Amino acid sequence: MQRLTVELDERSYPIYIGEGLLQSPELLLGHVAGRQVCIVTDDTVAPLYLDQVRGLLSSRDVLSVVLPTGEAYKNWATLQQIFDSLLEHRHDRRTTLIALGGGVIGDMTGFAAACYQRGVDFIQIPTTLLSQVDSSVGGKTGINHPAGKNMIGAFYQPKAVLIDTATLRTLPDREVSAGLAEIIKYGLIRDAGFLDWLESNMTSLRALDSAPITQAIARSCAIKAEVVGADEREGGVRAILNLGHTFGHAIEAHQGYGTWLHGEAVGAGMTMALAMSVRLGWIDEAACQRGVSIIRSAGLPVSPPDTMQPDDFLRLMAVDKKVLDGQLRLVLLRALGDATVTADYDSEALNDTLRKEYP
Ligand code: NAD
Ligand code: GLY
Repeated sequence: MQRLTVELDERSYPIYIGEGLLQSPELLLGHVAGRQVCIVTDDTVAPLYLDQVRGLLSSRDVLSVVLPTGEAYKNWATLQQIFDSLLEHRHDRRTTLIALGGGVIGDMTGFAAACYQRGVDFIQIPTTLLSQVDSSVGGKTGINHPAGKNMIGAFYQPKAVLIDTATLRTLPDREVSAGLAEIIKYGLIRDAGFLDWLESNMTSLRALDSAPITQAIARSCAIKAEVVGADEREGGVRAILNLGHTFGHAIEAHQGYGTWLHGEAVGAGMTMALAMSVRLGWIDEAACQRGVSIIRSAGLPVSPPDTMQPDDFLRLMAVDKKVLDGQLRLVLLRALGDATVTADYDSEALNDTLRKEYP
């Protein structure tokens, strides 16, 4: 087992990574303070892992809430189901919520924990590749609004993150590719050497071979922990974790939440960020093509949907959380492995990118 730490003073917490972590109760119980526990999961993950996790908690009073699966349900009405169950079963302020599932469950459970009785403990048990490398770490929680992705939420850190890589065995290939999008993101923004390694290991990563996938998860979590430790509430550097996300969130909202997977939209969005960085003369075409081919080799789309026009992007990107004082900031690349967040770009470069006039 590997153990990393997200360093946030009194809110610091461990990330445990290993195969079979959900076999023994000690790790999980070590982070459950009270008697009551509420496991939140979805109706796809519940038949796969709910009994196993309940089994670890036999010494506690366990409630489970099984929500409908998917991004389309990351909304107020579904969130309300968590509060309804907690109140019906008289959960008090010592309860611990456990998010068992992908990023949708993690984001909603974390937000529920932030709000319930003004804040209760929560633990992340991420079961998708995407949630293991990204959404379970860093404390961004929330739900979607029809007008924009993740628009309602809170920064609220978990007490621990337990990543059992064995859970990936049941994940469909399309979801594996979606997770690889965020892994590639870390290489593009922060670590050119990791990008080289990803290029050489993509086939075994897609096959979920144990050693390389564990290495990719650990390196991704280490980069995320470092960035979050430096800038928890995204006042500055944390925004680089959104490479491709401004374009990607627009794609997700335009297509209808759940039509394009988050990771797929990020794949196409990162391609657009690479293309725009070339337009601005910040990276050369060869670097762009290399980035695009790594994204493609992960099984991800490398262009936005044909049906999306520049005006669709502009309308949806105007509600991005990186808009400050009316200016849209974008994450762009100065080199492979070096990202910057800026509103200081030639708007024609953006327009060319939205018109899909790629180099
Ligand atoms: P998801 O939660 O929708 O899970 C994808 C699918 O996989 C679902 O159908 C789920 O039921 C299923 N699933 C989960 N684990 C499984 C397993 N082990 N075996 C088989 N099926 C399994 O999607 P996701 O890609 O995990 O997360 C995407 C969400 O995460 C988006 O809402 C995105 O906005 C959010 N996100 C948040 C952050 C953050 O920092 N909070 C970062 C990145 C993404
Ligand atoms: N996924 C972006 C972040 O956590 O900041």
